[in-house]
Amino acid sequence: MNYYIGADLGTSGLKLLLVDTEGRILNSVTKSYDVYYPNPGWSEQNPDDWWNAFVSGIGELLSKFDAKCVRGISVAGQMHGLVILDENDKVIRPAILWNDGRTYKETEYLNAVVGKQKLSDCTANIAFAGFTAPKILWLKNNERENFDKISKIMLPKDYIAYRLTGVYSIDYSDASGMLLLDVKNKCWSREMLEICDVKEEQLPKLYESFDCTGEVLPEIAKLLCFSDGVKVAAGAGDNAGAAIGTATVGEGKCNISLGTSGTIFISSEKFGVDKFNALHSFCHSDGGYHLMGCILSAASCNKWFYEEILKTNDYNGEQASITNENLGKNHIYFLPYLMGERSPINDTDARGLFIGMRPDTTRKDMIQAVLEGVAFAFRDNLEIAKSLGINVTVSTICGGGAKSKLWQKIIANILNIELEIPAVEEGPGLGAAMLAMVACGEYKSVSECTEKLVVKKEKIKPVAEIVKRYEESYQKYKKIYPRVKELYKELI
Ligand code: XUL
Repeated sequence: MNYYIGADLGTSGLKLLLVDTEGRILNSVTKSYDVYYPNPGWSEQNPDDWWNAFVSGIGELLSKFDAKCVRGISVAGQMHGLVILDENDKVIRPAILWNDGRTYKETEYLNAVVGKQKLSDCTANIAFAGFTAPKILWLKNNERENFDKISKIMLPKDYIAYRLTGVYSIDYSDASGMLLLDVKNKCWSREMLEICDVKEEQLPKLYESFDCTGEVLPEIAKLLCFSDGVKVAAGAGDNAGAAIGTATVGEGKCNISLGTSGTIFISSEKFGVDKFNALHSFCHSDGGYHLMGCILSAASCNKWFYEEILKTNDYNGEQASITNENLGKNHIYFLPYLMGERSPINDTDARGLFIGMRPDTTRKDMIQAVLEGVAFAFRDNLEIAKSLGINVTVSTICGGGAKSKLWQKIIANILNIELEIPAVEEGPGLGAAMLAMVACGEYKSVSECTEKLVVKKEKIKPVAEIVKRYEESYQKYKKIYPRVKELYKELI
């Protein structure tokens, strides 16, 4: 029996899956850790918390299984986060995460002074506050002492891989989100390194996601009770990992990920750039490319509204009374910009907003508005794809938020697309395990692996009448942000 471990290093926690070669999930473990918000709009995590969660999680994952049967591991992780190590491999400061908005000045400098055209020519993307390059510049401008100590720059999942193997590696999909990679040619962009004052030796070696980068170090294998020679695959950014786990590979497939962030991911065999630079143009973990829109607060809006405001964990109970009859008839709207917004508006000042409340507005209306606001934000991204001539009619959906039947229905109708629900909803974890299988030679290619292992269990079709109602609501929703945009600057 051969086992593979796929890890999803998320923002709210680490999810570990033990998977067999047929793609069956034998066990899963989730370990949570804290996010720190030291200033409004900032978000940080401790890389050691990730590693401790990983080690204790593997112990739990394998407690009833033979750890000696583990052949390969791979991690799909939250993208863009800046992890920096000194010359003794000590973490210099907490990691600055993908949804941290502190770099607005550096982002502005890159887009306005270096120029969007130049950035796009070098990397296929413009600067967004969450990307890694603006974070490096922020460090240079604000924490010079830490900047001067940097020996290694890595992304969150690569920190786990480095501690496992001692190999300093990164895959192309995750490297794409640093704004340091020449995405088209799959190499570091010399010009961007110069602009950010980074030397190539401070950066990891680049691999395809399904490449084996090394083996688990003997002392770590002992700690985890593994046999010798467990292979580690380069892994992927969580969205590219989810794309493998949902079979979003090859040409023109789409996956929606409804986690802390929300992403709409469109795979492509050929390199392409969004001429508006609103969608990211990144490498895929299947060896190709993809376009992606990212909304910073998706399932996290729900979590915030239920747990922080309503003080309940009863997500299903709160949604139970919202029926088809209610869809497309809400009189209130919600802008989901709790952490500012990335795609397509690229605005770190934007914030969440309920609008349209009346004396008869109910708790139920507000719950519905949060689900709808996130779906409208996805629709904004889909509109950009449409304007590029990309016609999405079907998409898979995965992530914690996708467990809600109601939210699935709302998204299918607001986007007017059919949703396919994979049998395994843990996209990034399953995708990571599959990349490890390919790296270990269980499957010849990523596409062979996805064809054999990814099963869809259900389809959600849009309903014409609800689509029509939501179309009218979307036209109203679309007008809100442009009118309050300027106000946000004064509020912050
Ligand atoms: C993608 C992005 C998020 C994180 C979340 O660009 O920033 O989806 O990867 O983990």
